[in-house]
Amino acid sequence: MTHENGIDLALMDEVFQKYSQQKGALIPILQNAQDIYGFLPQEALQLIADKMGVSIGKVYGVATFYAQFYLEKRGRHILKLCDGTACHVKGTPLLVTALGDGYHIQPGETTEDGDLTIEIVYCLGSCALAPVTILDDQVMGRMRPEMMVRKVQKHIKDAQKAAGA
Ligand code: FES
Repeated sequence: MTHENGIDLALMDEVFQKYSQQKGALIPILQNAQDIYGFLPQEALQLIADKMGVSIGKVYGVATFYAQFYLEKRGRHILKLCDGTACHVKGTPLLVTALGDGYHIQPGETTEDGDLTIEIVYCLGSCALAPVTILDDQVMGRMRPEMMVRKVQKHIKDAQKAAGA
């Protein structure tokens, strides 16, 4: 059964079978669901609540408590912006504005083409390099808005080229 937004809930059957004997398996079930869909779609959370006989509020509460779970679809590339105190003071809000202008997304959102997700994190322990961003695994310090947008564009283009090569 494929849900109208492309979520195939039948993929969860195997997961429920695997954990049918295990009480309190909510977290591993959520982990499995995220492995399947790349994030936790609302329909899957509802199904998990129904199958486990718990409220959607409880499932949602667990899913939002742990940083490992994502409730929104994530992009092929993840840009993390540190908004700890040092980075905030040194210009993270300007970076967020530049991404809003350039990509029309806010923290927690993904571009429509699925290329980029931006996320806010708090203090990466490199305050001397503020403002710090991490593009996929690449740490970039003392970032300025135009430089960051250029680097993101190049990174996405290079990855597309590599995938098409
Ligand atoms: S506040 Fe950003 S690295 Fe510490």
